[in-house]
Amino acid sequence: MRLFTGPVLSRSGSSTQSSPALLCVLYLLVMQLQPCSGCPSVCVCSLSEADCSGRGLVALPALSSLPSSTRTLLLPNNRLSLLPTAAFTNLSSLERLDLSNNYLDNLPAGLFAELANLSDLSLRNNSLTALDRDLLQGLGSLRRLDVSLNGLAAVPLGLLDQQQGLTWLSLAGNRLQALERAAFEPLVNLQHLELGSNPWECDCNLRDFKHWMEWLIYRGGYVDAMECTLPKDLRGRDIRSVPVEMFNYCLQLEDENGGGSGGTKGGSPPCVRATAAPPSESTVVRTETEAPDCVRQRYRPVSVRRAIGTVVIAGVVCGIVCIMMVAAAAYGCIYASLMAKYQRELKKRQPLMGDAEAEADPEEKQISSVA
Ligand SMILES: *[C@@H]1O[C@H](CO)[C@@H](O)[C@H](O)[C@H]1NC(C)=O
Ligand SMILES: *[C@@H]1O[C@H](CO)[C@@H](O)[C@H](O)[C@H]1NC(C)=O
Ligand SMILES: *[C@@H]1O[C@H](CO)[C@@H](O)[C@H](O)[C@H]1NC(C)=O
Repeated sequence: MRLFTGPVLSRSGSSTQSSPALLCVLYLLVMQLQPCSGCPSVCVCSLSEADCSGRGLVALPALSSLPSSTRTLLLPNNRLSLLPTAAFTNLSSLERLDLSNNYLDNLPAGLFAELANLSDLSLRNNSLTALDRDLLQGLGSLRRLDVSLNGLAAVPLGLLDQQQGLTWLSLAGNRLQALERAAFEPLVNLQHLELGSNPWECDCNLRDFKHWMEWLIYRGGYVDAMECTLPKDLRGRDIRSVPVEMFNYCLQLEDENGGGSGGTKGGSPPCVRATAAPPSESTVVRTETEAPDCVRQRYRPVSVRRAIGTVVIAGVVCGIVCIMMVAAAAYGCIYASLMAKYQRELKKRQPLMGDAEAEADPEEKQISSVA
C-alpha cells in the first residue's frame, strides 16, 4: 500500500505544487503586463488622459506604463520638487502636460526633449528661479507656455529660439526686471503675452523690448500689463504709456559709452535727478506732472552743452569785435586830438604869419603821413 500510495501521493503532491506555481507565473505576468500598458495606481486614466492631480505626490509615478494613446498628463497640485531627465521619455504622444502648483525649483535641460507633439505646457506656480536655455529644445509643436507665478529673474537668450509656433505665453508673477528683445524675436506667431506682476525697471534696459512689444500689439497681439516699479516717478505706470521720447537719452548714453556696451548694462533710469530733487508733496498728482519735467531734465545736458558752446563762440566773436571797436575808437581819438592840436597851432600861427596857405600844405602832408 505504501508503495502504491507513494506515487499517488507524489502525483497529487506534484499537482498541488504546480497550481501555485501557475498562479505565481500568472500573477507575475499580470504584474509585468500592468506596467506595460497600465495606469499608475495613483492616477485616473481614460482613453487619452491620465489625471494624477492632487495626490500629494513627491515623486513621479511610473509613467512609462501609460497607454500610448495618452494625450494629456495632469500632475498639478502635488509636491513634486525634482524631475529626472528621463521623466517623460516614451511619452512622445503627449499634447498637454500640466505640472502647475508643485514645488519644482530646477528642471533638467533635456526634460521635454522627446515631447515633439506637446502643444500646451504649464509650469505655473512652482519655485523656478531660472530656466536652462535648452529647456524647451525638442518642443517643436508648443503653442501655449505658462511659467507664471515662479521666481524667474530672467528669460535666457535662446530659450525661445525654436518656438515659432508659440501663440500664448505667460511670464506674469515672476521677478523679472527687464527682458531682452532678442530673446523674444523668434516668437513670430505670438498672440497673447502676460507680463503683469513683475518688478519692471523702466530704464534703458527695457527700451528695445518696449519697441518689440509695441510691434506685437501693432500686429494685433495682446499684452496684459507691464507696470513699472522703478524709477519712482514711473511707479505704477504701464510702460506702454511712457512716451518713447523718455528713452531717447538712452541713445546718447550708448554714444557716450562707446556704442552698445552701456545699453545692456549700465542704463540709469530716466529722471534719476528728478526723483532725487523733490521728495516732497503727495505722490499721485506729482507723478502725472513730473513726467514732462523729467523729459526736459534728461534733455538738459546736451542743450546745456550746446548753449555753452554758443555762448563761448558768441563771447569770442564779441570780444574780437569789442577789441576792434576799442582800437578804432582809440585811433579816432588820437586822430581827433592830433587834428585839434594842429588846428590850434594853425590858429596860433595865423596871426603871426601872413600867408597861412603857403604853410598849411607841408603841415597837412605831415598829418597824412602819420595816418
Ligand atoms: C522606452 O521604451 C523603450 C522601448 O520601447 C524601453 O526600452 C525604454 O526602457 C523605455 N524608457 C523608459 C524611460 O521607460
Ligand atoms: C504627433 O502628431 C502627428 C500629427 O497629429 C501624428 O501623426 C503623430 O503620430 C504624433 N506623434 C506621436 C508620437 O504621437
Ligand atoms: C500655488 O501652489 C501652492 C502649493 O502647491 C498652493 O497652496 C497655492 O494655493 C497655489 N497658488 C495659486 C495662486 O494657485
